[in-house]
Amino acid sequence: MGKRDIVYGLGENVGGINKRGSLYESFCSDDFDHTPDKSSLYAAHNFILIDGDKQIGLFFDYPGKIAFDIGYTHKDILSITSEKSNIDIYIIEGDNLLHIVQKFRNAIGQSYVPPKWAFGFQQSRWSYPNDKSITEVADNFRRNKIPCDAIYMDIDYMEDYKNFTIDKTKFPNFPNFVKEMKNKGFRLVPIIDAGCKKEDGYDICEEGLENNYYCVDKNGKPFVGAVWPGKVHFPDFLNPDTREWFGDKYSGLIEQGIEGFWNDMNEPAIFYSEDGLQKAFDKIEDIKGQNLDIYSFFDLKSTMLSISNSMDDYKSFYHNVDGEMVNHYDVHNLYGYNMTRAASDSFSSNYPDKRFLLFSRASYVGMHRYGGIWTGDNKSWWEHLELSIKMMPSLNMVGFLYSGADVGGFGCNSNSELVTRWTQFGIFTPLLRNHAALGTRLQEPFSFDSETTDILRNTLNFRYALIPYIYSEFMKSSKTGDMYIKPLSFEYRDEISRRVEDQLLVGDSLMVAPIYKANTFGRNVWLPEDMLLWKVNKYNNIEGLKIAPSGFNYIDVDIDEIPLFIKRDRILILGEHGENVAAINSDEITLIAFVDNCATYKLYDDDGETNQYKAGIFSELIITISKRDDELFNIETKTNGLSKIKKINYNIVTNKGRVLSGIKTI
Ligand code: GLC
Repeated sequence: MGKRDIVYGLGENVGGINKRGSLYESFCSDDFDHTPDKSSLYAAHNFILIDGDKQIGLFFDYPGKIAFDIGYTHKDILSITSEKSNIDIYIIEGDNLLHIVQKFRNAIGQSYVPPKWAFGFQQSRWSYPNDKSITEVADNFRRNKIPCDAIYMDIDYMEDYKNFTIDKTKFPNFPNFVKEMKNKGFRLVPIIDAGCKKEDGYDICEEGLENNYYCVDKNGKPFVGAVWPGKVHFPDFLNPDTREWFGDKYSGLIEQGIEGFWNDMNEPAIFYSEDGLQKAFDKIEDIKGQNLDIYSFFDLKSTMLSISNSMDDYKSFYHNVDGEMVNHYDVHNLYGYNMTRAASDSFSSNYPDKRFLLFSRASYVGMHRYGGIWTGDNKSWWEHLELSIKMMPSLNMVGFLYSGADVGGFGCNSNSELVTRWTQFGIFTPLLRNHAALGTRLQEPFSFDSETTDILRNTLNFRYALIPYIYSEFMKSSKTGDMYIKPLSFEYRDEISRRVEDQLLVGDSLMVAPIYKANTFGRNVWLPEDMLLWKVNKYNNIEGLKIAPSGFNYIDVDIDEIPLFIKRDRILILGEHGENVAAINSDEITLIAFVDNCATYKLYDDDGETNQYKAGIFSELIITISKRDDELFNIETKTNGLSKIKKINYNIVTNKGRVLSGIKTI
């Protein structure tokens, strides 16, 4: 690598947008400590993009462990090592970084498209354990007038953590409850785990055993590991028959009114196996009564810590791939991918015209066709807000447009400032979900003081106002292989823009510069060109629009403000907010445009529920604003006949900073 070459990519992983200087591994890992010393998270996204004298994309299609030494062993050497040689390497050339990504994305297929309600705010917690607690959360949203579209059901909704069951003591009339919640405007989203409880009489366990749907050990016996319910079998998702069987099980919940799922623990996470546990017990037995010194004590400690997700366990079970026994370890990274594929394939065949919300924790390149991902068990740390900012463009490179982090942080206790700043960034990510772990402090938007509730209400109202823009940009990116979120360097080629890691381009019109540090009321922002700055504090209060000049700008950002930058000759579209996505008024929009010469925006929309858009049934409204002189602009609109928009409230800012406002009816 040349001294200033940049290496992008690797999708979900630790580190910066530029991956140089570290060693990474692709091995889907159930690891809740996303610290900088780690080399793998839950996903394996073996795509890198080199920006040097030449720009080049490389995709390593390999299902096992593969290491990317990006200037770690030797600062100028990039070396990639797979453990076996059954690897396909794709070299992708193009005119520029974005073009390379587009070519790669066109090769790996179109990104998953969720229903439109999944762009609303979603609230989760491990766990809201029963119908009463979920109702209380929903009522709190409405009482506080905070918009929300979905509430999550974490593992405690199940009977003894058994997939596809509902605990009747907690949800006495589940279908009715789902209906009631939907009438109030909330979807319920249950979790599905990979491992299925080993228990006589449990239909999923018995059907799987009868039909050889589970992974087996070296003797051909169903492999047993342990997760939440204790002992489980792992469905062999690499076997198409298992996929069809498991995928169809989601229908049981769908028939009760469920429209979205999150697939979890599908690296797969294994707390322990019998063998692993036995080895640990033997060790304890051996050393009982001894004086443990530095070596023996730490040896004991590391034996205990390595019981979970152990390589020995991953090497001890097999998949049936076209009749051949394939060791799990060699194809480890395809497991979560195929679990999500199972669900998605089943939705497509059983409900071909309906879109479902579906996302996964583990993934591999290509899974983006079936669902989105969330970035797993982060912590309520400022560093993890920063990490989530840096991960978003890398995820977009590999097609995971529908993605987001646990807003507010999953593990550890959050505080009002962190939840506020995280939400202020999260409103730009397609998946916007606040989620927290068992035993942590409550962090719903109304859980802090009334000032924070007010700020978060405004922030989330702004998210809903942004949905027409977010949805339009998302859908266009999914169609064309463009990135919904990009690093600055994909559009601006000056050396400073190439190095900026804490500002992002969101869609075609916006740049965001989030606050991601504690006790901070401002920050430096690099502007590669003049941009229009709007410090948003109320979504419908368009005030103080001003041109920020190119170069470094220090921007004051109060706790209730979101600094937003509209690029030159671009247009931002805003809708009305509503208590959920369905309530957003779709016949009126507001636009803010920064027009130097001429700006055009193509606003895409569709029914948000079906797949009719694939057959060309969607609306397009093309808005063109062109300059006549300093005071006069022409606003022209063109539609494909399906747009419902009747009225545009416009705010045009000239290059001299004058704001021209008015209404255009269509
Ligand atoms: C895993 C998931 C987390 C979930 C928890 C309990 O840690 O990543 O999101 O809350 O399991 O199901």
